[in-house]
Amino acid sequence: MEKQKFYITTPIYYPSDKLHIGHTYCTVATDAMARYKRLTGCDVLFLTGTDEHGQKIEDKAKAAGKTPKEFLDNIVEGPQGILDLWKLMNISNDRFIRTTDDYHCASIQKIFRKMYEKGDIYKGTYKGKYCKPCESFWTESQLVDGKCPDCGREVMDAEEEAYFFRLSKYADRVRHLLEDTDFLQPRSRVNEMVNNFIKPGLEDLCVSRTSFSWGIPVDFDPGHVVYVWVDALFNYTTALGFMNDRYHDYDKYWPADVHFVGKEIVRFHSIIWPAMLMSLEEPLPKHVFGHGWLLLDGGKMSKSKGNVVDPYLLAEQFGVDALRFFLMRTFPFGSDGNFSNELLIQTINTDLANDLGNLVSRTTAMVNKYFGGSLPAGCGATEDEKQLAAMVRMGSSVELAASGDTVDPVLYDAQLVAQAAGLKKAYAHEMDTFAPHNALAEIFKVIQRANKYIDENAPWTLAKDQGNRARLATVMYNLLETIRICAVLLTPFIPDSAEKIFDQIGACPCCRTWEKANVWGSLRPDVTVHKGEALFPRIDAEKALAELNAIQEAQRKAALPALELEPYTQEQVDFDTFCKSDFRAVKIKNCEAVKKSDKLLKFTLDDGSGTDRTILSGIHHYYEPEQLIGKTAVAILNLPPRKMMGIPSCGMLISAVHKEKGEEKLNLIMLDDQIPAGSKLC
Ligand code: MSP
Repeated sequence: MEKQKFYITTPIYYPSDKLHIGHTYCTVATDAMARYKRLTGCDVLFLTGTDEHGQKIEDKAKAAGKTPKEFLDNIVEGPQGILDLWKLMNISNDRFIRTTDDYHCASIQKIFRKMYEKGDIYKGTYKGKYCKPCESFWTESQLVDGKCPDCGREVMDAEEEAYFFRLSKYADRVRHLLEDTDFLQPRSRVNEMVNNFIKPGLEDLCVSRTSFSWGIPVDFDPGHVVYVWVDALFNYTTALGFMNDRYHDYDKYWPADVHFVGKEIVRFHSIIWPAMLMSLEEPLPKHVFGHGWLLLDGGKMSKSKGNVVDPYLLAEQFGVDALRFFLMRTFPFGSDGNFSNELLIQTINTDLANDLGNLVSRTTAMVNKYFGGSLPAGCGATEDEKQLAAMVRMGSSVELAASGDTVDPVLYDAQLVAQAAGLKKAYAHEMDTFAPHNALAEIFKVIQRANKYIDENAPWTLAKDQGNRARLATVMYNLLETIRICAVLLTPFIPDSAEKIFDQIGACPCCRTWEKANVWGSLRPDVTVHKGEALFPRIDAEKALAELNAIQEAQRKAALPALELEPYTQEQVDFDTFCKSDFRAVKIKNCEAVKKSDKLLKFTLDDGSGTDRTILSGIHHYYEPEQLIGKTAVAILNLPPRKMMGIPSCGMLISAVHKEKGEEKLNLIMLDDQIPAGSKLC
C-alpha cells in the first residue's frame, strides 16, 4: 500500500543574527511532528531553511564589512551557525533551502512574471514616508513619534514606482478560507486575522522595492527587487521543484499538510500566501498553525533588547533531549509561554529525573536484583491482559472499580494495562490536532500510574517470599511493558533517550514500533534488561541556576554594543558665553559620603581663594571617598549654588562619561598634582 504523504515546514529563518531559543522552539516542534508522522508510517518531507534577502541583511553585512553572501555563509554554515544548531538539536529535516540558492531565485523570477502576465501584479506608485539618510520608506504606522523608526530623524512624504499584487481581488476567497474551513489554527487566530486585516479592507500589496539591491531582481524591470516576503513564502514550493528542475517533488508532496509559524507571521501565511497561490491557481496548503512566543520576563526575546536565550548553552548544560522535552512539555503550543531557567530545571527534575528516569532505573534495577537481569519465561502478558488491551484497542472504554476495602492486585494490573494500551489513541488524537504538549501530558499520566503501581505492589515485600516469584515476575513484566509503550511514543520528542530506554529494558527492534504501541505483551516474556547510566541525572537546582545565570549575564553583556557615547550637541555657544564659565583646578581636602544618600559625595575643596568650598557630586557608585582625598580635580565654580539633601553645593566637579556594554562608566577628570589650586582652565 502506498504510504500517506506528509509535508511539513518551519518558517525559513532570517540569518541576521544567531538564532535563539524561540527559533529553536519552532523547529523542535516541527521536528517532533515530522518524527511522529514518520513513526506512524507516513512518507514525510520536512523542510526548513533560511530567508536571506532584504535590507536588514544588506545593512548588517555592510556593518560587518562583508559582502551579504560572505556574511550569510558564516551565520548559516559557519561554526555555531544555523546548520550546526539544527544538527545539535537532532533536527531531522529532509531538505534545507537558502533563498539565495540559484534555483530558488530563478523560480521566483518566473513566478513574479507569471502573476504579472496574468494582471495580478501591476506597476503603480508607492506613497509613503521616506527617511533620506536611511534611504527607507515607512508606512505611517511604522513611524515612531512621527519620525524614522531606525534613526529618529524627520521623514518626508515621497513616492516611488513599484509593483503591486492585487490582494484586494482575493479578499472574499481568503475570508471564506479563514472563516469556513480549518485552514488556520488555532481557531483564535482566525478572528484576529479577519477583524484586524480583512474587515478593514485588504489593500493591494507592494511587492517590489527600488531603495536597496539585496534581493531577487525583477527580470523584466531590473531596478526593482522582489519584496522579501514574496521571495520567502514561495520557498515552500520551490524547494519541491515548483518552477525549477532542481527537485521533482512538487506533484508528490504539494499541497503542504501544515506550515508551523510563529504568531507574528500568521498574517503573511494565512492571507498573502493563499492569495498568491490562488492567483497562480495552485492548491492551497491544508493548514497553517500559528504557535505562540516564548517570552522572557514577559517580553519577546530580541537581540537588540539583549534578552535572548542561547540554545547552545542550554543544550550543553542540560542535554539536547532534556531541552527538546522541556520546550514541548511546558508550553501549550498555540499560546505564549514564559521561559525561565527555574522552569527548565524544575521540568527536568520532576518529569525526566523523578518520574521517567526513576521508573526506568528502579524497574531495571529490580529485574537485576530479583531475577539476575532476565525474567523467567512464561511470565509475560496473561490472556486476560491481552484481551483487555485488545478491547481498549477496539475502542472500549474500560471502567475498573475496586470492590470492598481490599483491592485484588489483579485490578492494579488491569488498570495499568488499560491505561497503557489506551495511551496510543489519546496521544495520536493530540498529535493530530497539533497539541504536542497534551500528547506528552498523556504519556506522563501513564508514567505516574506506573510509579504508583510499584508502590501498590511493593516488589521488595513480594521478593521476601519464594512463593511470590511468579507474581513478582508479572509485576516486573507489566512495568517493562508500560515503559516500552511510553518510550515508543516519546521517540519523536527525545529520540536518543528513547533508544537508550529501549536498550535498557531489552526491547527488540520489532517492539519499538508504532504498530506495537498498543499491543500489550509485545516484549518477550523472558526479556533481559541492561541497566545503564541514569538517563536524566537529577540537577542540583541551586548550583545549576547560579552557574547558568552567571554565564547568561556574561553573554548578555558581551552581546551589547561595546561603547556608547553621549549624543553630540548641535547647538553652538558663542565664545564670550563660553568664557564666562569659570573652570578651575581644585584640591580635594576632604571627601565623605552624604548620610541617607547612596549616590552623593560631599567634597571640601581648596579652590585657591583661601576659603573652603563645598561641592556635592553624585559619584559614590564610582569612587570611595578615600580614593579621592588629596587629588587635583576640575570644577566649574560660577554655577548658582544648589541644595542637595539640605546641603548647599557651590559648583560642579567635571567627569568624563560613556557607556560600556550598556553600563554607565564615569571618570572624574584629574589634573597633574603640580597644578596649583585655583588655576584657571581656559
Ligand atoms: N523569515 C521570516 C519567515 C519567512 S517564512 C516564509 C521570519 N524569520 S525569523 O527568523 O524572524 O523567525 C522565524 C520563526 O521564529 C518565526 O515563526 C517566529 O515566530 C519564530 N520565533 C522568533 N522568536 C520567537 C520566540 N521568542 N518564540 C517563539 N517563536 C519565535 O519571520
